[in-house]
Amino acid sequence: MMKSRPSLLRNFASRTALVAGLLASACAPSSADSTPPETVQSRTDEPAVASLKDAFAQHFLVGAALPANIFSEEDKASAELVKAQFNRITAENETKWRGVHGEPDEFSFETSDKFVEFGKRNEMEIHGHVLVWHTDQPDWIFQGEGGQPATREQLLDRLKEHIATVAGRYKGSIAYWDVVNEAFEDDGTMRKSPWYTIIGEDYIEQAFIAAAAAAPDAKLVYNDYNLWMPAKRDATVALVKKLQSKNIRIDAVGMQGHYRTAGDPTLAQVEEAILAYKGAGVQVLFSELDVDPLPFAWDRLGADVNFSVELREELDPYHEGFPAEAEEAQAQRYADLFRLFVKHSDVIESVTFWGVHDGMSWLNTWPVKGRTNYPLLFDRQLRPKKAWYAIMQVAAE
Ligand code: GLA
Repeated sequence: MMKSRPSLLRNFASRTALVAGLLASACAPSSADSTPPETVQSRTDEPAVASLKDAFAQHFLVGAALPANIFSEEDKASAELVKAQFNRITAENETKWRGVHGEPDEFSFETSDKFVEFGKRNEMEIHGHVLVWHTDQPDWIFQGEGGQPATREQLLDRLKEHIATVAGRYKGSIAYWDVVNEAFEDDGTMRKSPWYTIIGEDYIEQAFIAAAAAAPDAKLVYNDYNLWMPAKRDATVALVKKLQSKNIRIDAVGMQGHYRTAGDPTLAQVEEAILAYKGAGVQVLFSELDVDPLPFAWDRLGADVNFSVELREELDPYHEGFPAEAEEAQAQRYADLFRLFVKHSDVIESVTFWGVHDGMSWLNTWPVKGRTNYPLLFDRQLRPKKAWYAIMQVAAE
């Protein structure tokens, strides 16, 4: 049963006292070798389990994007926290084109292999990110002979070779692949990336065909930010239907979920998008979730990494600490989102956070470099925040 908001907030104190001690000892960097508790003995209205993965086991998998120092276990404390809390992982950067295929005839899988091994060792679902994107990739991809741009044929060959080699290497290990990331503008038109301008609109189809051949067991995903925006949502539904009508496999839409404490999207907008993708017959993943509590730096929603803003003092109000009211507002936003995810867990297969703890979030450097941000469920000491408790309570409702 849904609890009322005031009861959720009133219960923070007792919940915090009950669970925080147990988790803090499991998660604190200084106690990396202590094992987190599997269960928390509690009153009947307390969360019955102390991990996100167990709490939502009936609904969906819960994941995190990891940088190399976590999946290599160099940062042992964060790695232990990941093992305790999550049952799926995405590599933050190391399976991107630049990470595995920096030179034309050279693939380097040393780091991406470690990522996959970490997932396998810990029996986690492994998410590959990303085969085709407009950024984080070397310039040679789009260059042809004598300083000319690559031709359509050249670029198609490179796309197919890359997908066959990378998705092929992890055949049977990587369960989901983001085949194409961020192909649309917010108004639903195609992004004029070199993929689009050199190959044409069918680069998306070609990528999905190549991925289906290279990784027949992996689920194939179209991933993007702002997929709740009606124009972008409709363009994505149209893409899904077009691929389906040509018998090209697409299994899921990844709604990145870079959201904010306040403002758009409304829950209704997110829900309408979930239902639209469900109606098109694909799974929904929340693939890069975070909730940014800092003041709006500009009027762009979403995650277009090609733009940034200069640091100004008023944009960085919490560099000395995260005030309780701001943390509570963020917790409520997270709880509202998770209530919606549970409601639609028939179509939502997984929810993955874009990072593990506040200290390593990309939102400390984007869209403004040098801010102190607090977008995730664990603080810089790896302690669970109010948002963690709020989400755990949603699981117990
Ligand atoms: C986008 C990409 C991710 C990542 C984030 C920022 O959302 O899909 O790979 O680069 O931006 O870290």
